[in-house]
Amino acid sequence: MKFESTLIEQLRQAQRIVFFTGAGVSQESGIPTFRDGPSSIWQHFDPEIYATVLGFDNNPSKVWEWYWDRRQAFKALEPNAAHHVIAAWQEKAENVTVITQNIDGFHQRAGNQSVIELHGSLAMDKCRVHGHYSKHDVNSTSRTQPSCAECGSLLRPDVVWFGEALPDEAYDQAEIACFNCEVFICIGCSMDVYPAADLPYNASASGAYLIQVNPNPTDLDEMADCNLQGNAGVVMPALWQAVWGNTY
Ligand code: OAD
Repeated sequence: MKFESTLIEQLRQAQRIVFFTGAGVSQESGIPTFRDGPSSIWQHFDPEIYATVLGFDNNPSKVWEWYWDRRQAFKALEPNAAHHVIAAWQEKAENVTVITQNIDGFHQRAGNQSVIELHGSLAMDKCRVHGHYSKHDVNSTSRTQPSCAECGSLLRPDVVWFGEALPDEAYDQAEIACFNCEVFICIGCSMDVYPAADLPYNASASGAYLIQVNPNPTDLDEMADCNLQGNAGVVMPALWQAVWGNTY
């Protein structure tokens, strides 16, 4: 792959970098995206059922089991080259922030020490009534929905559903990183879901050099300083090679 020299120079010099990721970064790990193409999740499953509080209240065990199956599937999958390149970048710049909309924990599995999870995480559960948090038992072999140890109400995965607010602290940290970064790299995001989709615009408005990695066009194309068209698992290792002259 050939990259513009301005892009290479920006990446070599930058000490404050934000990697902002969506479902596309995990696609080559075997996790389908939500809304591009025939195999995407919302083509096959109704988000009103599986990603709203109302859907959960109507049929809690159905929703719990759907996420249980996803958790099981993720256990058998691995972070891909794009996750590993992002993790390796921590050694190359003073301040690397990873902000993700994903709930799969793959950035942490690839070695990123702190990750801002805007849409929650499958690593945790919380109870429906009081929001008491508990670590999800990854070794559980039962699909049966558990109850909260503190109050007895039903547990749900600690993920953000449509109509719910993003976790305040995560969003505040994300905004601060966007306002302060020199380079912002948006990878595998459709830019369809707000407020997360505001972040690249905020970063660009604050002067960051904006890079997008995506095989398909998005609303960000016009604003981006550089559009790298392709799959993250191919583009990111090639970019690393071009910037640092070795393999990640
Ligand atoms: P989407 O499924 O909306 O978009 C995935 C994006 O990744 C698209 O723009 C694809 O073109 C791109 N893509 C596909 N394969 C790729 C690859 N190999 N490398 C790079 N990019 C690739 O996923 P998100 O934008 O993450 O929220 O969706 C945002 C939110 O909507 C999710 O967090 C989830 C969903 O509903 C909730 O469930 C609340």
